[in-house]
Amino acid sequence: MIYYFTGAGNSRYVAQRLAKALGDTVAFMPHHIPATVPDNGEPLGFVFPVYFWGIPTLVKRFAQQLQTTGNHYTYTVLTPSGSSGDAIGLFEKALRRPVDAHYCVLMPDTYAPMFDCADHDKNAAVLERAEGEIDNVIALIKAHATGDHDTHHGRGRLATVTMYPLYLATTTRRFATNDACTGCGLCAKLCPDHFITIDNGRPKWRKGHCNLCFACLHHCPTFAIQYGRNSRKHGQYTCPKKLSDQ
Ligand SMILES: Cc1cc2nc3c(=O)[nH]c(=O)nc-3n(C[C@H](O)[C@H](O)[C@H](O)COP(=O)(O)O)c2cc1C
Ligand code: SF4
Ligand code: SF4
Repeated sequence: MIYYFTGAGNSRYVAQRLAKALGDTVAFMPHHIPATVPDNGEPLGFVFPVYFWGIPTLVKRFAQQLQTTGNHYTYTVLTPSGSSGDAIGLFEKALRRPVDAHYCVLMPDTYAPMFDCADHDKNAAVLERAEGEIDNVIALIKAHATGDHDTHHGRGRLATVTMYPLYLATTTRRFATNDACTGCGLCAKLCPDHFITIDNGRPKWRKGHCNLCFACLHHCPTFAIQYGRNSRKHGQYTCPKKLSDQ
């Protein structure tokens, strides 16, 4: 089984590529909390993005509640846009056990408050390069390689220790919509943590810290959602590469 989390579709695509090559099945983490993994000895993969050099809140919750007997080859595949820091350290802590192998595939950036997400040429080049990285990861997983094969840790634990607390302190307060909103409800439907309801034809965010996955912002058909002052100019991105779930 390959469990994944995604906001804009990058990690879903990577998980689907692995599943296709490995004859495995994918499952969306938020739909499997708590997950109990059968004691069948089959490999267990975890594919997810890196947020503030740490792990998305739902990934942490998934890992904390996952029940396994431990008789599996386990691996993570992180999908940051630049570097992963010590995200795997946080994941293993939440899982309460070490993972056999760690991999990393660089994917296009989805952090709309700060980075241009709509540079199609740049995104296409990143996705092209990612195909090679995914092929390497597949070969290593097939060989049941062990150890840390992530070559994109950047500043490692230092980045995680300094930046991840800032992620945990973010709240839904900065979300806003403009008049382009049609009240279609897609954002509420896609939110993996049920932070959005449609109230009087407009999305309303529940108070608190959400995952900041930006599934709502990037998938909105009219680009009506902003997060802070700068996301508007950075555009939308959803992974253009799609495979069916295995
Ligand atoms: C809230 C947030 C924080 C992010 N932080 C990092 C980061 O610390 N390092 C990094 O390399 N990429 C970071 N990214 C980029 C994503 O990890 C990357 O674009 C990933 O492929 C998105 O995957 P998804 O489409 O499956 O959600 C961040 C993205 C978001 C939305
Ligand atoms: S997806 Fe966009 S258009 Fe649809 S309700 Fe949400 S903000 Fe409005
Ligand atoms: S409100 Fe938007 S960014 Fe937050 S968890 Fe839901 S979909 Fe993701």
